[in-house]
Amino acid sequence: MSDAALVLAAGLGTRMRSELAKVLHPLLGRPMVRFPVAAAQDAGFAVTVVVHHQEERVRAALAGQDVRFARQVTPRGTGDAVRAGLSELPEAGRLAVLAGDTPLFRAETLTRLAEAHGDNLVTVLTARVPDPAAYGRVLRGADGCPQRIVEAREATPEQLDIDEINTGVYLFDLAWLRTVLPDLQPHPPKGEIYLTDALELAAKLGRAGAVVHPDVEEVMGVNDRVALAEARHLLQQRVLRQHMLAGVTFEDPGSALVEADVAIGEDVTIGPGVVLRGRTVIERDVLVGPGCVLQDCFVGSGVVLGAYTVCEGAVVEAGAKVGPLGRLRPGARVGPGAHVGNFVEVKAARIGAGAKVNHLSYIGDAEIGENANIGAGTITCNYDGFSKHLTRIGAGAFIGSNSALVAPVSVGAGAIVGAGSVIVRDVPEDAVAVARGQQQNREGAAPLIRARKLAEKAQKQ
Ligand code: UD1
Ligand code: MG
Repeated sequence: MSDAALVLAAGLGTRMRSELAKVLHPLLGRPMVRFPVAAAQDAGFAVTVVVHHQEERVRAALAGQDVRFARQVTPRGTGDAVRAGLSELPEAGRLAVLAGDTPLFRAETLTRLAEAHGDNLVTVLTARVPDPAAYGRVLRGADGCPQRIVEAREATPEQLDIDEINTGVYLFDLAWLRTVLPDLQPHPPKGEIYLTDALELAAKLGRAGAVVHPDVEEVMGVNDRVALAEARHLLQQRVLRQHMLAGVTFEDPGSALVEADVAIGEDVTIGPGVVLRGRTVIERDVLVGPGCVLQDCFVGSGVVLGAYTVCEGAVVEAGAKVGPLGRLRPGARVGPGAHVGNFVEVKAARIGAGAKVNHLSYIGDAEIGENANIGAGTITCNYDGFSKHLTRIGAGAFIGSNSALVAPVSVGAGAIVGAGSVIVRDVPEDAVAVARGQQQNREGAAPLIRARKLAEKAQKQ
């Protein structure tokens, strides 16, 4: 029989002072509850999540994570939450219980707890902490065995001095737990049922155990936003360390923000202040310059992203160069070896292989052929105030600087558009199009104008 785990996630988390349920607060791009769920799954446990507050959102946050859900009708304490989960659990076997607010908890620790469990009825994971604060205290008997857990708010001053705390992670013998849960009594004043009271019953039978965990940070429960920030920092260090061990150079790891679902290949160098979010994938040998921000992007091998390039929902294919100060918006696709330079914005547009858009352009709703050259200041006028239209530029075409291409319009392969043109009609393949005012040179006229203007100015004084 496979081991089962309950992740308790029904509470609101009032100390977060938030509309959003605590377990939904994001950490490195994932809702907090996904971390303990993943830890239990990685240790081989089949996970059921107990929900109540913002139930639908918690379910949505875990969609596709292969978990079951149980509904706690009214949150009345951790013991009540486990009761609520029973209908989704097997009759017998081992049950791990974890809290949804312990995002740093690791799979290996659950495995170690399971190894120590033996034929205990309950084994609790504890830790010795310098500031036990609001955690439940672990009381041990003369024989050293755990006897009882007392909540801080109910503890005597002597008990409050105990520095061994309940981390809120346990293993139970599920068949036995089913027999004792109905007997747990509510605690005044709130009438909460404490799961911790089950330990006392097991201790009376001499079958309660405790494992002291040396890593206090790992079992930290996030109850407010100060702890949320600490947890984020520690998780970030873990994620960065994994990338470094897998061959990624961070020039200044302390300043990088890399979310948990980002994938990075070998020999990638990441500059200071880089932010990588969502499902961004970076292949091998990529340079990500200082201050770049990428959300849900694909970046192929050998790409160079110049400093302060901002990309969202974009694809940059192998060997392309973007930036410094490039901006790729959703649907931008920069082909292999293409260049997109500074102050260029690309949206829902494909830049063909080897094409160049190097300076100060807007390319939106467009297809640009291979090796085309788009001059500085070119604008695709994609919006007529009502709807968006497409601009097509053929392979090898040359668009002179400061041209406006009024969509829908196409410029054929190999065509040349003169600088400063406003193109409103299609340009055939290999044609030259020039659409701008005619230039007149009046020989010697400048001194005459100057003399007239000076005379006018003198008259006014
Ligand atoms: C609990 C423990 C305490 C331990 C601490 C570790 C009890 C009685 N106390 O206290 O000994 O030191 O965790 O962090 O168990 N939840 C529900 N339904 C409920 C109540 C809580 O699902 O009715 C969930 C919460 O969403 C949370 C978890 O259970 O994820 C723990 O609840 P919380 O209120 O944070 O318990 P603590 O006071 O921290
Ligand atoms: Mg808590």
